[in-house]
Amino acid sequence: MSYPYQIKSFEAYQEAYQKSIQDPEAFWSAIAEHFTWKKKWDKVLEWNFTEPKVEWFKGGKLNITENCLDRHLATKGNHPAIIWEPNAPDENHRILTYKKLHEKVCQFAHLLKNNGVKKGDRVCIYMGMIPELAIAVLACARIGAIHSVVFGGFSAQSIADRLEDAKAEFIVTCDGAYRGAKDIPLKSVIDDALIGNKTVKRVIVATRTRTPVSMIKGRDVCWEDEMKQVEEKGITFIEAEAMDAEDPLFILYTSGSTGKPKGVVHTVAGYMIYTNYTFVNVFQYEPGQVHFCTADIGWITGHSYIVYGPLSAGATSLLFEGVPTWPDAGRFWDIVDKYKVNILYTAPTAIRSLMGFGLGPLQGKNLSSLKVLGTVGEPINEEAWHWYDEHVGKKKCPIVDTWWQTETGGCLISNLAGITPAKPGWATLPMPGLQMVLVDENGKEIIQEGEETISGNLCIKAPWPSILRTTYGDHERCRTNYFATYKNMYFTGDGALKNKDGFFRITGRVDDVLNVSGHRIGTAEVENAINMHAGVVESAVVGYPHDIKGQGIYAYVIYQGSHTQDTHGTGDLVRKDILQTVTRIIGAIAKPDKIQFVSGLPKTRSGKIMRRILRKIAEGETENLGDTSTLLDPGVVDEIKNGRL
Ligand code: WT7
Repeated sequence: MSYPYQIKSFEAYQEAYQKSIQDPEAFWSAIAEHFTWKKKWDKVLEWNFTEPKVEWFKGGKLNITENCLDRHLATKGNHPAIIWEPNAPDENHRILTYKKLHEKVCQFAHLLKNNGVKKGDRVCIYMGMIPELAIAVLACARIGAIHSVVFGGFSAQSIADRLEDAKAEFIVTCDGAYRGAKDIPLKSVIDDALIGNKTVKRVIVATRTRTPVSMIKGRDVCWEDEMKQVEEKGITFIEAEAMDAEDPLFILYTSGSTGKPKGVVHTVAGYMIYTNYTFVNVFQYEPGQVHFCTADIGWITGHSYIVYGPLSAGATSLLFEGVPTWPDAGRFWDIVDKYKVNILYTAPTAIRSLMGFGLGPLQGKNLSSLKVLGTVGEPINEEAWHWYDEHVGKKKCPIVDTWWQTETGGCLISNLAGITPAKPGWATLPMPGLQMVLVDENGKEIIQEGEETISGNLCIKAPWPSILRTTYGDHERCRTNYFATYKNMYFTGDGALKNKDGFFRITGRVDDVLNVSGHRIGTAEVENAINMHAGVVESAVVGYPHDIKGQGIYAYVIYQGSHTQDTHGTGDLVRKDILQTVTRIIGAIAKPDKIQFVSGLPKTRSGKIMRRILRKIAEGETENLGDTSTLLDPGVVDEIKNGRL
């Protein structure tokens, strides 16, 4: 089976694009026809961006797991759905065929039901990258429970906040997770997160590392024991819950410009159709190929392009537990060689980090199976692009630079591999259905004319099927965050360029959100965490260019105690304490790379911190700091400049 809606030429792309804009309802409903529905929709699209309200395929009934699993059983039952490569290269890998995955998902869905999980309940999933993670996600979808996957690198405090926000009653976790040389005690982190929690009734614990775990009677149960009970009853199937097209499928928390992460909500039908459509078109997936997306399922990339996109397309998706540099920096290439990977989808930060190890780790690795390469998460610098092209793709593989966000569900701007042109550093053209515009700060659309390249804030004029529907529990927050900056438009928070060919180049966030190694982190969140540390009076966090991470975190801290108490009077011990505090409050991913102690921060007379100045100093620019005359105390700028790290 190939895909009738797969775009096979540049002309076909242009035609699809035209159609999708002229008549979005006809365009998307023709694609929706290729999925399994329990009942067809009444109305393709209803929307306004003022509330906002977006409804796709309203009245339709379906279950995403029937599309990801059941419908492939007759033709692909024995094909691999998931290939799992463990952290340690000498441990056995696992292959779950569509039949096996279907059976496991049905059994785990039973298990969830046995433990009281019902349609609409929120299930927090905190696991390492093992097949059980995908099984748990799909089993929730099978019975209509809303999954909220939390990345394994987040702290107990972060989990506690997310549990409370979602009022989650169930958790699925592991004893521990392997990541490179590390062994992370996930259950123990969950135990800490549950201190004081009032909503969680049941914790299901899968065994992976055999790290000792506390199992609290009446609350904690063991995955394997519970599964055995289901298996012993001979259960291999459970009817898929009939979901409304617009029922929530999952919540995924992401950072914004405030201190509190928001729960982005995606719904069943639109998300399914759009992730499938983009998977098939951007990567030009052909049946039988092996797709390797290196993201973690804890992020949107993993949701969309390890689980739902590939499986709904009947693809083979490779799930890797470990990290690219362990046991050595040749690990990705070993995996490509071992499984004859055809599509490799990774982040610029991973490419840059591997570049640093030179060409040695690539030697002797057969990468000839590769057909398509992809990047996501941050702008890719040209040097990394060319290295990827030359040394990984051997100049034979198109590279797709896919721009999108947690909120968009799937890729919105990207070339289609080998079909539409690529341009290093440019995400290029919008997907069908996407009306991207650049606006000035007043929201006025900037029109590209002639040969010029224009620059502005990236907005979208109309909904696509996998646009976020709300932020969990707080619709007003969704409105103010995304739909209020510019009237009748979704605002991405990114700045971009558009050239004469209509290509887009993303220049980065224009709000106070950082992108560190492809992880999204709000400066306000990091500031809140730093401010929790005893002795810290105030802090200001900005990003600065970092060779490998893309952006590093630079913190300016007013510390009340004297840090000369340190062994060497350098403040290093206080710095370490602050890092420890941030690790506790958010997780190690949010640790500042640099902490500069200052006696004051540049503020306007109204008390607003002038981040522009701090950003410039962190970037190493000390001359052209712009107008500092409105500052309350301009003298503080010199002190900060002189103390720059
Ligand atoms: C932000 C979204 C989309 C999954 C991973 C990140 C940046 C993402 C690109 C790209 C330049 C990119 C944007 C965006 N971004 N892809 N190809 N080129 N920038 O998802 O955590 O929601 O972050 O990542 O700034 O707004 P996320």
